[in-house]
Order: sequence, then structure tokens, then C-alpha cells
Amino acid sequence: MESIWSKTCDIEKRPVLTEYLEADVAVIGGGMAGILTAWQLEQAGVHAVVLEAARIGGGQTENTTAKITSQHGLFCHTFLEKKGEETARNYVQANQAAVEEYKRIVREKEISCELTGCDSYVYSEDPETLRKETEAAGKLGVGASLETRTELPFSCAGAVRFPGQAQFHPLKFLGALAEELTVYEQSKVTQVEEHLVRTAKGSVKANAIVFAAHFPFVDVPGLYFTRMHQERSYVLALEHAAEIRGMYIGGGQDALSFRSYGPYLLLGGQGHRTGENREGGCYRKLEQAAREFYPESRVAARWSAQDCMTADGVPLIGPYAASRPDWYVATGFQKWGMSSAMTAAMLLRDKICGRENPWQQVFDPSRFSMEEVHQIARDSAEAVKGLTRRFFHIPDKTAAAIARGRGAVVDTPEGKAGVYKDEEGTLFQVDIVCPHLGCQLAWNQEERSWDCPCHGSRFDYRGVLLDGPAQEGIGDE
Ligand SMILES: Cc1cc2nc3c(=O)[nH]c(=O)nc-3n(C[C@H](O)[C@H](O)[C@H](O)COP(=O)(O)OP(=O)(O)OC[C@H]3O[C@@H](n4cnc5c(N)ncnc54)[C@H](O)[C@@H]3O)c2cc1C
Ligand code: FES
Repeated sequence: MESIWSKTCDIEKRPVLTEYLEADVAVIGGGMAGILTAWQLEQAGVHAVVLEAARIGGGQTENTTAKITSQHGLFCHTFLEKKGEETARNYVQANQAAVEEYKRIVREKEISCELTGCDSYVYSEDPETLRKETEAAGKLGVGASLETRTELPFSCAGAVRFPGQAQFHPLKFLGALAEELTVYEQSKVTQVEEHLVRTAKGSVKANAIVFAAHFPFVDVPGLYFTRMHQERSYVLALEHAAEIRGMYIGGGQDALSFRSYGPYLLLGGQGHRTGENREGGCYRKLEQAAREFYPESRVAARWSAQDCMTADGVPLIGPYAASRPDWYVATGFQKWGMSSAMTAAMLLRDKICGRENPWQQVFDPSRFSMEEVHQIARDSAEAVKGLTRRFFHIPDKTAAAIARGRGAVVDTPEGKAGVYKDEEGTLFQVDIVCPHLGCQLAWNQEERSWDCPCHGSRFDYRGVLLDGPAQEGIGDE
């Protein structure tokens, strides 16, 4: 299922890395975070080489809704209460600086990526929530206002408005910046040593290494899997739905997201933890909402994506681990990776160049208690002991009980296996022990994939790896 971004933009292909190279910085991952970081470094005179496992922007970035905003849901009031005024203010300022940086780059480089300035809104049914959020935003220096009239197709108590935000076509932007960079595609990093990254056919020696691979895949040191899980959500591009000027998101549990792009209205929602969508129905529920709110509309495209969610709601940007002073990471973007990727690029550029940056501390990955992290790591290591790929003999009766087009976890003489039966009745079996750290995978009926509830790795019904942190598949290949 292709997003409207990938349908309408073809980024020029780059070569595979087939040699040994030296660079100032090796950036792992060619999504928004990796490309922006490499670009900011090059602007500062630091030579960066980007290594991308598949295609530029082909990870979560091509499936975003591409709102560029410092309004990350209803966060001002909570951050102010839990983190204090200084941290909350730094958080919002860093992200607003990121929004301004997008505008500056697009303006100065005259990039055709349909970037338009607009306001963003968080709507709610609860007037008190809106009042508190507007007040908190004001304390943090945002010129926010409480609006009781919205462009939404239903009534609500109102929305908190952040002025001066933006929206764009993410791949057109990314493609233009990547033209100026050294990028290798189809060049998955398989091993990282102190200053050396290896791919199947080449390697790069660099003074610093940046992990911008969405979920950092080196577990030790860093232990990032103990601090994050992943959440998926779904998007419809609707034709013949009313155009809106602002960008909207709901503040509650069943929040919907709205923005226009050309003739389309992008309607998003139905978020859930990755690995917890056994029965499916997410697209169906979004389609129901589309029919209810925009009866004339037609679905022109649909797609989904996932993002890394941290325990305290703040991304992890900075040094990877105390024992690896020249490794850096940018992850945990909480579904706000457009502004967060730019924040990361500016913070990492400054860190690597030895410049002061007033916002570094807010995002520093070392803010978590290492004692707690180590305990979770010990538990996980226990779970993964003795993990080897197995072949299963699926009993005939068990196979017959699976409906066509469905997947199921079944008992076999060798243990539990994952089986998918396609519409023609062909069976595809996989080992449902996640190769990352050994959790049991769950069937995702919506996307016909095997998803891990622990840290969000995903595999297609044949077992081919779709999303990390796992780095290998679970099929026969
Ligand atoms: C439905 C949805 C809507 C969203 N909408 C918005 C929005 O409107 N605004 C907003 O701010 N944010 C939004 N987000 C979040 C945003 O899309 C993401 O945070 C952002 O795209 C993440 O970018 P990234 O560069 O970190 O990851 P990715 O784009 O996934 O890039 C990581 C890259 O690393 C590569 N890689 C992985 N492993 C390796 C390896 N071993 N070697 C080499 N390369 C590797 C991958 O192939 C991939 O291309 C949304 C998220 C979701 C789920
Ligand atoms: S993603 Fe970590 S155990 Fe599956």
C-alpha cells in the first residue's frame, strides 16, 4: 500500500557501497533523520557518508502525514507539571526552531516540496483540558490561543492553536537535500565496530557514527530496547472531502488526524502498540469515519507506519552510550519525527562539531536510570537464550482449521508456529520467536504481517523482515 508521497515522487537511485571509504561521519539510515543530520554536518564542513539499507526515505518517512509542527499533541500542561518549566520550554523551543529551519532551508534553496505555512490545532471534547493546555503553552512562550470554532466535520469543545507551523511533501524535500550528499542505497549496515561500519560489500571508517536507523539495532551498549516500544497508525487519502487550511489532531485516546494535501484530505488514526492488532479492522474503522464525516469522499490511497515511543515522551538524541563516545543516536520520535528529525540533526551537528547547544540536555539519552535499564536487559537476555530457527510439521487438522486469507499461531510437535493461509489455500509457515530478543510474534490481520509486541519488529507472511530492531527475517531464506 503506497502513500501519496511515494506515488508522486521518485528519488534518484544511488549506488550500492562496494568499497572501503573514509569519512568524518558515517550516518546509518537514509530517512528524514539520517539525511537531515548528514546535510547539517556537510553545511558545517564535516564530510558525512549515509548508508541506507533500502531506498532514501523508504522507511517510516515515506508513510508519514508530514505535518511540521512543535505542537506534539496535548503536551504542554503535562510536561510543565512533570518535567518543570525549563525542560518543557526547551523542548518546545527546540521543536519550533526546527520548524523555522525547514522554512529557511526551503526558502533559501528554493526547494519545490509544496511547503506551506499554516497553524496546527489539537482538538478536545473537554473545555478544561483545552484551557489548561492553552495556559501552559502561554507559560512556555508559545503564542497559542484557544479556538472554539474549527474546520473539523464534527463538533467539539474547541482546539488549542499553535501559529506559524508548516506542512509539505516529505519525499520531494528529502530528495532535494540528498542530491547534495554521498549516499549509498541497498547498503545495509551489518556490523558496527568502534569506528568502522560494515555492509555486505563494503565498509566505512569514520571518526563518528550516527545511528539514524529509526530503531537503533545495536543492543549493547545503549540498551535502547529497554526504553522504547513502537506504535502503528493508519492513514487514508480522501478525494472529494472538504479542504482544510489547518492541521488537526485529537487530544484523546481515539484521536483522529487531519490535514489537506492538494486534492486530498489525509485522515489518520487507529493507533495501537505494534503487535496488538490480531483482529484487524483499523482501515475499516477509518473508512467508517470517512463515510460519516465526508459522505461524498472516496479513498484514493491508504497506508500505515510506526514510530518509536519512549518511556517519558521525549526523543532520545545524543551520545549512544558512555562506553562509545563517538557513537550518536536519533530515535524515539513519538510520531513527531518531522520536527524531531530536524531537532536531532541540529543537536548532533553541534555535538559532533563541539558547539554549545542549549537544548541538548532535554533529549540526552543518558537521562534514564541505568539501574532500571540493566534489569530489563538481563530479563530480555534470559528470554533469548538458545534461540535457533526451527522447522515445523503442521498437523493436517490444524492447517484445515485456518480460514483462507488468515494467519494463526498453531501448536505443532516442534512447538508454536505461525501459519498464514493465502486465498488459494497455500500455507506459509514461520518461526514466531522474534529474532531480536525472543518475544512471541503476533499476527496482524490488517497488514498480513507477523509483529512483535515487545519492541515492534515486523515480518511479512513469508518471514521477510519489514521493520527493526530485528536485523534478520523469520522465514526459510
Ligand atoms: C502514521 C504516522 C503518521 C506520522 N505523521 C507525522 C507527522 O505528520 N509529522 C511528524 O512530525 N511526524 C509524523 N510521524 C512520525 C515520522 O513519520 C517519523 O518519526 C519519521 O519519519 C522517522 O524518521 P526516521 O528517519 O527516524 O526513520 P525512517 O524513515 O524509518 O528511516 C530510517 C532508515 O534507516 C534504514 N535502516 C534501518 N536499519 C538499517 C541498517 N542496518 N543499515 C542501513 N540502514 C538502515 C531504513 O531502511 C530507513 O530508511 C508519523 C508517524 C506515523 C506512524
Ligand atoms: S522486537 Fe525485540 S523481541 Fe521482538
